[in-house]
Amino acid sequence: MIRRFRIDEGGVHMIRTLIAGNWKMYKTIPEAVDFAERLKEELSTLPEGRDVAIAPTFTALHAVSGIIGGSLIKLCAQNLHEAAEGAFTGEISAAMICDAGCSHVIIGHSERRTLFGETDASVNRKMQSALAAGLKPIMCIGETLEQRECGETFSVIERQVKAGLHDLGAGDMAVVTIAYEPVWAIGTGKTATPEQAQEIHAFVRGIVTAVYGSDVAATLPIIYGGSVNPGNISAIMAQPDVNGALVGGASLDVDKFVKIVRY
Ligand code: 13P
Repeated sequence: MIRRFRIDEGGVHMIRTLIAGNWKMYKTIPEAVDFAERLKEELSTLPEGRDVAIAPTFTALHAVSGIIGGSLIKLCAQNLHEAAEGAFTGEISAAMICDAGCSHVIIGHSERRTLFGETDASVNRKMQSALAAGLKPIMCIGETLEQRECGETFSVIERQVKAGLHDLGAGDMAVVTIAYEPVWAIGTGKTATPEQAQEIHAFVRGIVTAVYGSDVAATLPIIYGGSVNPGNISAIMAQPDVNGALVGGASLDVDKFVKIVRY
């Protein structure tokens, strides 16, 4: 399998693989706790270079943290508010997410963009806020079916990447992950072909190379999301610029998620 490498003083470093489960608005606290307990048992060891994260709903984060704390499983929030604190009824800040035990946060998921009015500019402000709090952001990008059919995929992706990362430094990029999730592949059972994913991932890496240089680009994890399941994960992961997966539906089932993690 082809993999990208970075060479520095310490030797050769491979990009770590991240498999993250985005639970969206599913699972009560008891269900989340049960899942976390079972997952922790299944994932007491992981293949070299592989990271695993789960993103429960806000209400379950603290309870799940108590279970997976000290394990190999990382905790991720699904969203955050850009402000540090304030009169924002119903919102959650980066510091609160850290407080609940998270190391990662998903930012700019297409459901947030299409259903909750998030823009490239607000995604960028959330990225800044997450980084300032020491969280590792997973920034989601992806074109809609209409944009793909109109031949706008590359311009949409370029705009989302550049605007989302605006004003971030090379040091910030060391903890950023980009998730390419074509909107037409989310929850539809319609996965992008491995070649379609590779084409966009390579394009994203090219944009990051142009902005930050090849050292940053060569170590940036770019993960794929959209109808990932145990049957298609290996083919997707065989692409040289695919460094992991952001899994929705299939991450709600321990057996399926473990199969994906151990592809
Ligand atoms: P599905 O895996 O259910 O298509 O969802 C993908 C997704 O949106 C992950 O963030």
